[in-house]
Amino acid sequence: MGTEKSLSIIKPEAVEHRLIGEIVRRLEGTGLRIVAAKLLHLDLEKARAFYAVHRERPFYSSLTEYIASGPIFVSVLEGENAISKNREMMGATDPSKAAEGTIRCQWGTDVEKNAVHGSDAPETAAWEISFFFQPEEIHGIHK
Ligand code: CMP
Repeated sequence: MGTEKSLSIIKPEAVEHRLIGEIVRRLEGTGLRIVAAKLLHLDLEKARAFYAVHRERPFYSSLTEYIASGPIFVSVLEGENAISKNREMMGATDPSKAAEGTIRCQWGTDVEKNAVHGSDAPETAAWEISFFFQPEEIHGIHK
């Protein structure tokens, strides 16, 4: 385990509902540190590339159109066990099954509009972070 990085995305409906501040407060409350951040609006091509791992799934078109539907807040979290801490604070993918006190329980609408995304493993975190950030945009202790 030890110090890790995880990619976090605040999805379009949460940005639209002015929840960036509330969600960042929750994420920072885990003890993790934001070491890179930006607001951006993906085009469909970039959305498809980001979620390419899901391209065979029935929800791929809908998911990629949704994530490209408005600005998203993308950040890199760093700290001890960043991946599991981020996922614990996010809660289950389906907000109706997410534990009390989690971001998705409080602010998720449905399995697609589920407020946030977080990396699920160190390899995916490294790939997802490099998808959005250049090394010089990351201001962590561990490059
Ligand atoms: P996320 O963590 O962004 O990673 C992939 C996303 O696919 C997931 O969150 C959900 O928003 C979405 N997803 C997973 N399962 C379904 C589903 N059955 N229908 C629609 N979207 C889904």
